[in-house]
Amino acid sequence: MKFNLTRSDPTTLKTDCLVVGILAEGKLTPSAQKADRANQGLVRRLVRRGDIQGNCGETLIVPDLSSTTTQRLLLVGLGKASTSGIAEFKQAADAAARALSRLPVQNAVITLAEAVISDLDVHARVRLLASSITDATYHFDQLKSKKPRKKNMLNRVSFSMTDRASTHHARRAVQESQALASGLNLARDLSNLPGNICTPTYLATQARKLRRSHGLKVSILDERKMEQLGMGSLLSVSKGSRQPAKLIIMEHQGGGRGQAPIALIGKGLTFDAGGISLKPAGGMHEMKYDMCGGASVFGALVAVAEMGLKLNVIGMVPSSENLPDGAANKPGDIVTSMSGKTIEILNTDAEGRLILCDALTYAERYKPAAVIDIATLTGACVVALGHPASAVFSNNDELAGELLKAGEETRDRAWHMPLWDEYQAQLRSGFADVANIGGRGAGAVTAACFLSRFAEDMTWAHLDIAGSAWKSGTKIGATGRPVTLLTQFLINRAS
Ligand code: BES
Ligand code: MN
Ligand code: ZN
Repeated sequence: MKFNLTRSDPTTLKTDCLVVGILAEGKLTPSAQKADRANQGLVRRLVRRGDIQGNCGETLIVPDLSSTTTQRLLLVGLGKASTSGIAEFKQAADAAARALSRLPVQNAVITLAEAVISDLDVHARVRLLASSITDATYHFDQLKSKKPRKKNMLNRVSFSMTDRASTHHARRAVQESQALASGLNLARDLSNLPGNICTPTYLATQARKLRRSHGLKVSILDERKMEQLGMGSLLSVSKGSRQPAKLIIMEHQGGGRGQAPIALIGKGLTFDAGGISLKPAGGMHEMKYDMCGGASVFGALVAVAEMGLKLNVIGMVPSSENLPDGAANKPGDIVTSMSGKTIEILNTDAEGRLILCDALTYAERYKPAAVIDIATLTGACVVALGHPASAVFSNNDELAGELLKAGEETRDRAWHMPLWDEYQAQLRSGFADVANIGGRGAGAVTAACFLSRFAEDMTWAHLDIAGSAWKSGTKIGATGRPVTLLTQFLINRAS
């Protein structure tokens, strides 16, 4: 998808589809008025007849215009300008993007960023529209032998912005959106790939490619190197797998030499069968998505690299499979992590925290300003929050606040969860320093508590994305979340 900005009168542009907004009670936005005039009062006629009322998220396609410039019109209800906020605008943007993606059009001109919506500035409006379009037009068909239609797929969207004062902000939003789309699509592609293709070695190969394409510094730690470092916890998870584990490290050096980096650590479990504590068969195939946290780190690094963000960012992806095998971890096994802490593995299916804890310890050597791990860590998180929200845990309220804010700004939302000392007691082990599970209650919290013990000396946050990273079923798959939240957090840090 190519995004760009145009300052011309939208009705004079040659386009397959012009998208204009209708406000509540059938009030026309300035662009709708122009489209109305250019088409002999057509828009007002449709409003008068009741074909569209202007309710938020309503759409009406006018498939054939006599105009020589505009082939089709897409009218989009924006609701009441005075009362609508980000939720309503996102709803309208999603409806517009979905309608557009179903039309046999290659390009479109969108005027909805012009609409006057309370509390949203032009930059936010363009970003939200572009994000809806990126989502609606994503397809994953690389593994189908017969590709569905390639012709007449939307591939260019122009945001119309006639107000001169706004063009600067709109231009920045277009650039950010373009970079974000690259990051999101990469994250979704990696996530949707099945476990037999997307292995730790495959992820490492994809990371190496980002040296040339995005100027990232990339290094891969193999099992021998991890052994030398004492990463006994991470390596214990991959013992039961024929695919060797990798620790992938990608660096974007956009800030000053001495500037402390932000470290992102993404769980890259390319298939989680549970190990000896085997998962039930139903739905197990979805555990190919257990590397979505890792994929979001790839996505965020690609996005910040394409933006040329003036910030140092390190992405780390500990990657392994978790399978049952004669050599696999057994319940009751005790391993020694790189930090020196010993861990009693009471359930081999709580493996995410076992690979993340060694990556957290390794991150200390970068003296990061903040470290954020992202993981499809617990089914309990899905029970607690469902799919709309990622969970945020942090040992620093300011950092948590920044992450929550970045999520609200972009509608890639998260919810703050407790990390109280009271919960730590659930991780007590009779035989080692800590147990890898915390019993019945608050599974997402005790998982975060486990990780917190390996981040004591750092400003740290943990995002549990078990509910937000993918949608079950054949149609949608990986969502790319929280690439947008992470990237916005980094943009905010850089400015
Ligand atoms: N990858 C899973 C978590 C998960 C499960 C995410 C379902 C999304 C949907 C993780 O490795 C896991 O298996 N966690 C266990 C932890 C338990 C054994 C304490 C879980 O949630 O059941
Ligand atoms: Mn597991
Ligand atoms: Zn897992």
